[in-house]
Amino acid sequence: MNKPKVYITNSIPKEVLDYIGKHCDYEIWDNEENIQREELKLNLKDKAGVMLTGIKIDEDLLQYAPSLKVVSNIAVGYNNFDIEAMKKRKVIGTNTPYVLDGAVADLIFGLILSTSRRITELDSYVKKGQWKASDDKNLYGTDVHRTTLGIIGMGRIGEAVAKRAKLGFEMEVLYYNRSRKVETEKSLGVKYSDMDNLLEKSDFIVLMTPLTKDTYHLIDAEEFSKMKRTAIFINASRGQTVNEKALIEALENKKILAAGLDVYETEPINKDNPLLKMDNVVTLPHIGSATARTRFDMAMTAAENLVKGVLGEKPKYVVPELEDLI
Ligand code: DGY
Repeated sequence: MNKPKVYITNSIPKEVLDYIGKHCDYEIWDNEENIQREELKLNLKDKAGVMLTGIKIDEDLLQYAPSLKVVSNIAVGYNNFDIEAMKKRKVIGTNTPYVLDGAVADLIFGLILSTSRRITELDSYVKKGQWKASDDKNLYGTDVHRTTLGIIGMGRIGEAVAKRAKLGFEMEVLYYNRSRKVETEKSLGVKYSDMDNLLEKSDFIVLMTPLTKDTYHLIDAEEFSKMKRTAIFINASRGQTVNEKALIEALENKKILAAGLDVYETEPINKDNPLLKMDNVVTLPHIGSATARTRFDMAMTAAENLVKGVLGEKPKYVVPELEDLI
């Protein structure tokens, strides 16, 4: 019997590719540059499945993929799925939860520490040969331990951040979420808060909510104006959850102290973005889950989702909005 045909847009480990090859006939985009949309359309015309990251899946693309049964995201976020278009075409969408929680939470703590203790700024000060013993007071940062952390979006990654904050840094943790997490409150000792109180009380504000139409520009000028002038803002979710212009304005006018960013409204970030000129902003290139082990696990999870989907079985991680299609 013929194996189902699938397309893979990312370079993935050989072991994962071999696993896919056992069950499917695959083609893979083998090029340094990311695949262009038009090229992908041409490659999808006879495919039952596709494995990818970040490419918008909408009617414009799906019309070129008449045999498509499953889109397997190599990511936990799935804001690239146009859910209505996928429902209409009966295309299942899957993601890779759980395996990246620890890596992203670690990176968020990296951003908390590097902004508060000015690690990247002072690293370049030392490397540029600017270090003078008399400078000591100008090198002060702010404490992380025993301060207050506010987490907006208490999913699994939010919980992993809260655990590090409570156990490692003795922080008070407030959280805001669509629904209350009573079990987490008990197990971790975190406190539910309304948004305004969280913005007003927190020394560090971590945004970890998925991007949906309800969370687009969730943090805007009004939210920044409620934060402490000493607050440090961290975003490792999706750039569009924040109005970047308002963030820049808040930083320029010292409405907040600093920001640690892994995501931006436009990625890769534009070279003339004012954030790149600010010493009090740490800018990373969307690397939340980018460790070898985590990326391997994500690729394997996505591959398992892909294979199950094209074989007509239920993949483990179908996104909730598309579960009815199974
Ligand atoms: C995710 O898994 O959603 C990461 O942000 C990579 O896109």
